Amino acid sequence: MKRENEAGSWTAICQLDDIVPNTGVCALLGEDQVAVFRLNDGTEQRLFAIANFDPNANASVLSRGLVGNLGERIVVASPLYKHHFDLQTGECLEAPEHSVATWPARIEGGKVWVGA
Ligand code: FES
Repeated sequence: MKRENEAGSWTAICQLDDIVPNTGVCALLGEDQVAVFRLNDGTEQRLFAIANFDPNANASVLSRGLVGNLGERIVVASPLYKHHFDLQTGECLEAPEHSVATWPARIEGGKVWVGA
């Protein structure tokens, strides 16, 4: 569920250093709550942005989930029911019908940017 970045508009969410490595924060993008994750494996910084709302738990909690790997996939585990969401595609691995939206995210000038 990739959202097209048609307008090419990017919003600065926070400083990169505001996000503790391998955790997420929640940001408001228009009316959407977006969970933005910073992954740092020691050599590479990567950002991912998915919806903060967990459709199964019916709660806005994904930014507080635990980030990890499941095979090749980088996932966040929902803090409530522990379902896993692929950070690249938004897919809920246990219940694909509950997959969530994703946004493009990048680092520039020491800041975290999310495209809308
Ligand atoms: S745990 Fe929320 S959709 Fe799977």
